Amino acid sequence: MSELDLVVKGGTVVTAADTFPADVGIVDGVVVALGRGLEGDEVIDATGKLVLPGGIDSHTHIEQLSSAGVMNADDFHSATVSAAFGGTTTTMSFAAQHRGMAIPDVVAEYHDRAAPKAVIDYAFHLIMSDPTPEALGEHLPAAVAQGIPSVKLYMTYDRLRCTDDQILDVLSAARAQGALTMVHAENHDMIGWMSNRVVGAGNTLPRYHAACHTRGAEAEAINRVIALAELVDAPILVVHVSTIEGIEEIRRARARGLKVYGETCPQYLFLTADDLDRDGLDGAMFCCSPPPRDEFAQEACWAGLADTTLSVYSSDHSPFRHDHTGKLPKGTETTFKDIANGVPGLELRLPMLFTHGVGAGRMTLAEFVRLTATNHAEIYGLHPRKGTIAVGSDADLAIWDPDHEVTITHEMIHDNVGYTPFAGHELKGWPTTVLSRGEVIVAGGEMHAERGRGQFLARGPSPASQPLGRQIPELDMMDRWGTPFRP
Ligand code: URP
Ligand code: ZN
Ligand code: ZN
Repeated sequence: MSELDLVVKGGTVVTAADTFPADVGIVDGVVVALGRGLEGDEVIDATGKLVLPGGIDSHTHIEQLSSAGVMNADDFHSATVSAAFGGTTTTMSFAAQHRGMAIPDVVAEYHDRAAPKAVIDYAFHLIMSDPTPEALGEHLPAAVAQGIPSVKLYMTYDRLRCTDDQILDVLSAARAQGALTMVHAENHDMIGWMSNRVVGAGNTLPRYHAACHTRGAEAEAINRVIALAELVDAPILVVHVSTIEGIEEIRRARARGLKVYGETCPQYLFLTADDLDRDGLDGAMFCCSPPPRDEFAQEACWAGLADTTLSVYSSDHSPFRHDHTGKLPKGTETTFKDIANGVPGLELRLPMLFTHGVGAGRMTLAEFVRLTATNHAEIYGLHPRKGTIAVGSDADLAIWDPDHEVTITHEMIHDNVGYTPFAGHELKGWPTTVLSRGEVIVAGGEMHAERGRGQFLARGPSPASQPLGRQIPELDMMDRWGTPFRP
């Protein structure tokens, strides 16, 4: 008997800091040794392969009621199976409060959905659409105490959006708990005004979705929420950033020292508005908010990832079938305003970036690991258990064959969506063997994990989610006048 349960032998280990040849020794699902010549009860030969931390996808919608009240096509089984095949070993999805719902009930319901089905480990963020005093004063702190120290707010969507004063309330409450606020930043009225006029003139095709979600709607909302966050000294993470202008707002805020983080997604690197311009309602398969833009915006997103203005690359997996159960709630009568928003991307997030990022020389392997795993763990409070390969971290490993070539078809994807927006891409580099807590869950193109083996990850507040503790001049003024005001 060896002291090690399992050794991943002879591969090249990649972390956010280094790329080096090493064996990985595992006991009880945890990495206990990195070195040469390790021996174990079982051995996986990784000669010629790259050994990366499993991906963390910190923005996914799984078994969730959408902004329009439509249920996602993926449940926690199909979504996590799909994630695993693409080299992702942790998902973070939303427990979504729609108006009138009590957050404790919402959280309990999402636990019930996930626990019997997930094959990889998972965490939750809250979505808050109804920030009542009880929700802010009791339910949010309780959710944070139960391991959910992040909350997403919407500045658009009729059924979910918060007003600016509600946003300030949530930012203050989140700050008090050391929780991070994620923001879907688009100007609701700009989009609505454009959309109503366009539909009123008889233009209903999916391509108008891209035109009506203007670049300015994103930039204005990002600018506004940064101002709101600065007023109460609350860190924010702007999700799914798609525009040059939006990235500039975040870059400026970061240059001023604010804790403003940004995220982009495959659809903003690999799709454009032209993808929505298809026959009939086919463009609906590419409708997401914000929409894909143009090649200049794609370049800006690459540059934002390169200079760390954008810290995380997530899928925003938002799975809807291209039929009346999902994308087209009114069948052939569906206008672009009714189309369920979002595109699938859990499985292809990493392979797409590997080919077009690492393979194309746009980023190093270490940067790839940072953007797909380590930064997610650090920002959302999972580090160092997840997102790295280090002594003491979970043995969540994706063993990549850098020479494995694949042409993407929707038939090869394991989600329940029935299409992929990335069909036809020729990729080189693929996670051929995937381990979760030391257990081989994907090998030889087969899934080996039992339903429900995935564990809920209770997270703690992270350094990224702590306020700066900056002086706020207006509040100092009031202090001097003897009328202290603390947000
Ligand atoms: O279009 C999108 N992104 N749909 C998913 C919901 C959201 O806004 O993240
Ligand atoms: Zn969103
Ligand atoms: Zn989303």
